[in-house]
Amino acid sequence: MSNPIIDQLNAAAEAAAAKLQAAAEAAELEKIRIEYLGTKGLLQALSKEIKTVPPEQRKETGMTFNTVSKAIQQQFDERSAALADTAAADHSGLDLSLPGRRPDTGRMHPVARVMEDCVAIFRRLGFIVAEGPEIETVFHNFDALNAPADHPSRDPSDTFYFDDGRLLRTQTSPVQVRTMLAHKPPVRIVSPGRCFRRDTPDATHSMSFHQIEGLYVDRKVSLGDLKSILLHFAREMFGSGANIRLRPHFFPFTEPSVEADFSCIMCGGKGCRVCKNSGWLEIAGAGMVNPAVFEAVGYDPEQVTGFAFGMGLERLAMLKYRINDIRYFYENDVRFLAQF
Ligand code: PHE
Repeated sequence: MSNPIIDQLNAAAEAAAAKLQAAAEAAELEKIRIEYLGTKGLLQALSKEIKTVPPEQRKETGMTFNTVSKAIQQQFDERSAALADTAAADHSGLDLSLPGRRPDTGRMHPVARVMEDCVAIFRRLGFIVAEGPEIETVFHNFDALNAPADHPSRDPSDTFYFDDGRLLRTQTSPVQVRTMLAHKPPVRIVSPGRCFRRDTPDATHSMSFHQIEGLYVDRKVSLGDLKSILLHFAREMFGSGANIRLRPHFFPFTEPSVEADFSCIMCGGKGCRVCKNSGWLEIAGAGMVNPAVFEAVGYDPEQVTGFAFGMGLERLAMLKYRINDIRYFYENDVRFLAQF
């Protein structure tokens, strides 16, 4: 014997089946599920009516209710799975004739590149790489390098000090001291690394920058040796047309001291904006190791002589890659870095 609730349940089962069959998207399926099986859905409403049917029909009505709600849930599950399968098999958006996309690879930073180039040139000449700490003692950074007690570079307005008296090295020259303290002569080292000075940042100054230091100590090392090494370096770095000149200068740790100019790589020496019409670019500080430095590290100045040099790697990179502002190196703008 039938009753109006059972009729409605059967009608709902048929309608839901038809709608689920016709649905073409997951969102549509979900809407239909809510319409019938949701907490405010049609079946929930009918379940409240079951208590109104005569007692002898309740069992049958309850069973029909269970069958219908299970059937709708099952049809929903099947249709969902079927739709997911078609979506996965749909390659209509794929065009195999399109060129592939090249993944972005990292590049070496221009300063690191120039550093490697320099090291490679000096290694071919028999120099080996030595390294020292960026946090240094006053002894290694100043005292042993013969810097007078009142030298302005020692001032806290020029140098970053820690509370314990140590400092951020202002140059790579303390690596000379560490190397000579640890090794007997002869020594032949280059030391690239980071340095720090309390400068106001502008187009050519940065509070953190890089230098490469060179040191050659042996019997009878001469200023001529220094000149030929620097000339060789200039030609390896900037081409066989490069030339150098040495100008007298002063550093506490070298005597005599020179500043090494390279012929301008922009104009070849004719004069341009980059070399301020002089034809020359200041590249390196250099000189013969001061006997006072040898004494500070326990070398005998009667037995050995040596030369040392130091140059700024950012400056070399700016010249080599025609970059006119040092700040580009530290901004980490990929559009800049991707050019090298
Ligand atoms: N340390 C010096 C500077 O930072 C450069 C230098 C190195 C000069 C070695 C002479 C010898 O300016």
